[in-house]
Amino acid sequence: MLRELYQTKSTQETEALGAALAARMQESDLPRYIALYGDLGVGKTAFVRGFASVIAPESTVRSPTFALVHEHRGKELDLFHFDMYRITGEDDLYSIGYDDYLTRNGICLVEWSENIPFALPDAYLRVTIEKCDADHPDLRAICIEEVAAC
Ligand SMILES: Nc1ncnc2c1ncn2[C@@H]1O[C@H](COP(=O)(O)OP(=O)(O)OP(=O)(O)O)[C@@H](O)[C@H]1O
Ligand SMILES: [Mg+2]
Repeated sequence: MLRELYQTKSTQETEALGAALAARMQESDLPRYIALYGDLGVGKTAFVRGFASVIAPESTVRSPTFALVHEHRGKELDLFHFDMYRITGEDDLYSIGYDDYLTRNGICLVEWSENIPFALPDAYLRVTIEKCDADHPDLRAICIEEVAAC
């Protein structure tokens, strides 16, 4: 099972890590659902932006906080970018047709997955981003790991 640890020193490096994961996903059978964890402003959207630059290069990634989900048309796979910051329960997910996204031909990237532990699929990639050094505010520790129900 995949479990990798990285450090990035800039926004661009976090974007590049997202892009590298997207390229690997195109060539492997990694789960097409990425649950992103991490505090406000830590770099989740930056990671998604890099990821999208490979899967849906024509698209512009913005924080979807108010829309809950943004869809990006990709070359082969679509990309569904969720922000669960304001989700409070299953009714909110139902209102955006969340379950339908899981069965469509695309990749889900989900910011604030902390808020939907009850709605994660059986298998997914967990990407955790943390600030790791108070003296270096641009440094991030990023863990990418595969999670599967046993
Ligand atoms: N190593 C780094 N990786 C990512 N972002 C960084 C890094 N260093 C500094 N930053 C800055 O941190 C901020 C990250 O913003 P971003 O919107 O990606 O965070 P977020 O986790 O999506 O926040 P939110 O919880 O509000 O959605 C940006 O201002 C970015 O420039
Ligand atoms: Mg964000």
